[in-house]
Amino acid sequence: MRDIRVCVFDAYGTLFDVAAAARDLATEPGREGFAEVWPQVAADWRLKQLQYSWLRAITGDHCDFWQVTQDGLDWALARAGQQDADLREALLGLYWRLPAYPEVPGMLARLKGAGLSIAILSNGSPDMLSGAVESAGIGAFLDDVLSVEAVGVFKPARAVYDLVGARFSCIPGEVLFVSSNGWDAAAASSYGFRTLWVNRAGEPVDNLPGRPAHDAADLTGVPALLELSS
Ligand code: LAC
Repeated sequence: MRDIRVCVFDAYGTLFDVAAAARDLATEPGREGFAEVWPQVAADWRLKQLQYSWLRAITGDHCDFWQVTQDGLDWALARAGQQDADLREALLGLYWRLPAYPEVPGMLARLKGAGLSIAILSNGSPDMLSGAVESAGIGAFLDDVLSVEAVGVFKPARAVYDLVGARFSCIPGEVLFVSSNGWDAAAASSYGFRTLWVNRAGEPVDNLPGRPAHDAADLTGVPALLELSS
């Protein structure tokens, strides 16, 4: 893939470990009750956050990603019988400081060293993304952080993917788009980007019109996929 000029990453679940907030809190003293239910809470939180984003995109009822993040968490905590204001506040606080997956800094450094343009394209609001980028310590590798707030609709609306060409003056075929969300990789393929689906959980491919061109279990192989010399 030597004709790629721009490498664009989804944020939550792709660069940043979204399950870390619930997983880390579950290990704190006094959180024994939460420790029993955290995997279900984390899964429900993510699913509802995404469902609310898609539904709001369809109905034209946009709000920012922080709102659907809170609304999804409230549903997940209610389902688990964990409606506790202190727990809610702690989980939301951790969401602003999610860690990057371990391979992320080294992988981004390789891409940067090869002269590629690198960006995030995310549903996240600009302030949420700033917090995550800063706490993960990856800001120096990024040329830009593109948020859907610039167009007021969530992925997979095409207007979101248009932000990449507008920012980097490139055609879709010059972009490698990397996402751990099967639906996001599918939509990006339909749009015309070259795509890598990061399938950390070993899930089946989504049955949607677009198919990811490549898949991998993590981000380690991105430089090799781009045929960067080591
Ligand atoms: C994002 C979500 C979809 O970062 O993971 O856009």
